Amino acid sequence: MILPGSDPAAIAQAALQLRAGELVALPTETVYGLGADASQDSAVAKVFAAKGRPAEHPLIVHVASKAQVSDYAASVPAFAQQLIDAFWPGPLTLILPRRDGVARAAAGGQDSIGLRCPSHPVAQALLQAAATGVAAPSANQFGRVSPTTAEHVQAEFGEDLLILDGGPCPVGIESTIVDCTRGAPVLLRPGHITREQVETACGQALLAPEAATEAAPRASGTLESHYAPRARVRLMSANELNQRLASLGVHAHNLGLWSRQRPLDAGAGVLWRAQAVLAAEAAQQLFAVLRELDSHGVQQIWVELPPDTPAWEGVRDRLKRAAA
Ligand code: TXA
Ligand code: MG
Repeated sequence: MILPGSDPAAIAQAALQLRAGELVALPTETVYGLGADASQDSAVAKVFAAKGRPAEHPLIVHVASKAQVSDYAASVPAFAQQLIDAFWPGPLTLILPRRDGVARAAAGGQDSIGLRCPSHPVAQALLQAAATGVAAPSANQFGRVSPTTAEHVQAEFGEDLLILDGGPCPVGIESTIVDCTRGAPVLLRPGHITREQVETACGQALLAPEAATEAAPRASGTLESHYAPRARVRLMSANELNQRLASLGVHAHNLGLWSRQRPLDAGAGVLWRAQAVLAAEAAQQLFAVLRELDSHGVQQIWVELPPDTPAWEGVRDRLKRAAA
């Protein structure tokens, strides 16, 4: 059931449920999460089961404040602390060495742990009321599009799950992930907080993930094919999109388009949605647009590939995986 996240009684109920080892879906500023008490391995197992996610894929543990980092991390390099001070609470996840004996299942058995302190007021209220770290992957079936509204979550997991409604997520794509276990920061997943912002805040260049091969931890968000709607996604330039559309003419059907300009030749069989010109706005739209076009049963979604500039790295990353 969906309960208003602004209602203190709903927060109290959700916190009790977490403590009792049950799952709760919560809004964050990035996407909705499917949460479990990170200190209960049996509760965390329910998350993997519900998502159909392989149990060795680690989850992010969400904490209410910076002070809780030491509950989970064995050590915090200086550059990681600088990132925490610059961006928490906010859409940044850090991978840190895990403290012995804590959150083993949440970490997928790895000796590192992903930590994030979300800024969303409903997430904050829940984390404070539950007084425990909450392991939460995005609240979608494994490999599918992340949810950015309470209704999206309900469409994935049904009526029985308690879902706190916090409205549409303002960021819209998952947190930026920086691995801080390899001596220098490594960008594992681009997001709203850009590469430049990370480098400026910690005064160090990010290491390319390729340069950090060997002990690379598994990260499902980094699988080549992920975030996929049912329809086939194809990425193209505005020019190519218009040419293809013109050559299909009236024969175009069951086709979704997400592009900046309304195409001149789009007939009745084409559903067009406007793509925002600002990266942050397009990120906010992205998953909701893919889901909405899917819900109309389109067979293909043609997407105008946004510019190859730093601000668009997170959106382009998700689009490429959706198209893979
Ligand atoms: O914005 C977000 O990060 C959302 C909200 C709910 O906080 N969560 C999210 O979770 O995107 P999920 O599970 O869909 O993606 C988490 C990513 C995965 O790619 C996972 O493998 C990686 O974080 N991750 C978590 N812990 C890790 C670790 N110890 N080492 C390497 N990667 C890790
Ligand atoms: Mg996910």
